[in-house]
Amino acid sequence: MRHLMNPLDFSVEELDRLLDLANDIEKNPEKYAHSCAGKKLATLFYEPSTRTRLSFEAAMLNLGGSVLGFSSADSSSAAKGESVADTIRVISCYADICAMRHPKEGAPLIASMKSRIPVINAGDGGHQHPTQTLTDLLTIRSLKGRLGNFTIGLCGDLKFGRTVHSLIQALIRYPDVNFVLISPEELRIPDNIRDDVLRRNRQQFKEVVRLEDALPELDLLYMTRVQRERFFNEEDYVRMKDFYILDKEKLKLAGPDMMILHPLPRVNEISVEVDDDPRAAYFKQAQYGVYVRMALILTLLGLEGSVC
Ligand code: NCD
Repeated sequence: MRHLMNPLDFSVEELDRLLDLANDIEKNPEKYAHSCAGKKLATLFYEPSTRTRLSFEAAMLNLGGSVLGFSSADSSSAAKGESVADTIRVISCYADICAMRHPKEGAPLIASMKSRIPVINAGDGGHQHPTQTLTDLLTIRSLKGRLGNFTIGLCGDLKFGRTVHSLIQALIRYPDVNFVLISPEELRIPDNIRDDVLRRNRQQFKEVVRLEDALPELDLLYMTRVQRERFFNEEDYVRMKDFYILDKEKLKLAGPDMMILHPLPRVNEISVEVDDDPRAAYFKQAQYGVYVRMALILTLLGLEGSVC
């Protein structure tokens, strides 16, 4: 039995197969419409979510399976003090696979150790968000035509943004990826990613504060929201929240093919006037999230080969 805790849980070859499967699902959805008939997905969300939870649910429904679960800790037995270890032992009796989001780093990993069903980390605190990374990789590969040989700017809350932490770890395995880390001083990438991931792997990267300085050299721009819920006090959040606002004027500094990604939800960091720009790919990215989660569910249930 396999779980997904970290984007590195799949080898590059396995990821290629998963992304190929997602592309096939996109082209031939009817082929997969009953692949998970009789199977159940449990979504255990201890933290708010729109895209991740609903795209998991849409993915399972598209595969002909069913879904059950909860969307906040308050409506689960966590409110009575139950541990994730106990919850997952019980959920293992009700479902075939589970996606878990939790504010505590490592909670899905603890669950996976007690689970009789595959557990997918759907975001744990400021740590990892592997299925967003699968979404990002599928979007980049499908729209840019390659993974590697590009300069990517990651902009915003690089300290608390788990999507950025997971994406960097995944991208260093591809050739010639240059990273431009764009953040205010207080929201710089954590030391463990800078030292243990980027430096240790002799990866090309630089850190800058001004988005304007980075824009001309980017093939991809990955914008992120300032993660309000992870700040210790509201004043710091208010000071940081509008540090970056990508608008039409700033976009004039970027190349004609620079792709703009964002895991969403967006607050103010991308002005709505950018949505019509052909370089804006963040809503397509949300659609790719469904295909890749379908491919992931099939793979973890061992059903990927059963479709003909
Ligand atoms: C991200 C998350 O939850 O980390 N959202 C998502 O899953 N698409 C990004 C965010 O909340 O800013």
